[in-house]
Amino acid sequence: LDTSTSAHICGGTLIAPDIILTAGHCSGYFDSIQVGMHDLKNPRGDGTYPMKFDHLIVEKHQAHPKYGNVIFNDLAVAKLYGTAEVPPVRINNRRNVPDVNDALTVMGWGVTEEGNSATSSNELRGVDVLSLNNEQCERSNGVYENENVSYAGYITNNMLCAWASGSDACQGDSGGPLIHTGASTGEDVQVGIVSWGLGCAHGDFPGVYTRISAEYDWIRQAVC
Ligand code: ARG
Repeated sequence: LDTSTSAHICGGTLIAPDIILTAGHCSGYFDSIQVGMHDLKNPRGDGTYPMKFDHLIVEKHQAHPKYGNVIFNDLAVAKLYGTAEVPPVRINNRRNVPDVNDALTVMGWGVTEEGNSATSSNELRGVDVLSLNNEQCERSNGVYENENVSYAGYITNNMLCAWASGSDACQGDSGGPLIHTGASTGEDVQVGIVSWGLGCAHGDFPGVYTRISAEYDWIRQAVC
């Protein structure tokens, strides 16, 4: 997702030919989108990723009506002018997916070190993380910027936490997908949207995602 000056703003996924799903805190900050992209400096690619590429303009932004304080109901859709030819991503509506400890993949063009914009990437990157249960996630506590802090009270049913030693989403990845890989590519589903976290790849604090299955009804009615 980008601006007219082509700055990278956030990640997002094409969920219908003319609809992008992203984070609520990204909504309104971009005015065009590029789909099927791998390398930001070479949008049409070098042939390694033989996907169709589309650059489309946003017609309308719609954040979740209860989106608030950057982290709550952190999702939005954007309607595009025209349609993309890239195949859309499947979004997950099954409450039991992901299971606790499932391996998931998060991807984006964001930084690998918090606060260090030099570590963002032109090429799409991804890492594997494991899903946690919400109760366990809510008990996360530790030291962040010299203060004792905890996730207690901040993890709602429509969030999903995932963690792996040394791997996480970070700034610039927001709005991008957390994917549960199926038996074949056609069975891959998006289970989360990169939303927030204390630090990045912090030993005590998981990455927190918007849980798509919990927001499925809103997404469906917004799209349809
Ligand atoms: N809010 C960040 C963004 O705007 C994403 C942060 C995700 N943080 C994490 N530790 N998983 O890009």
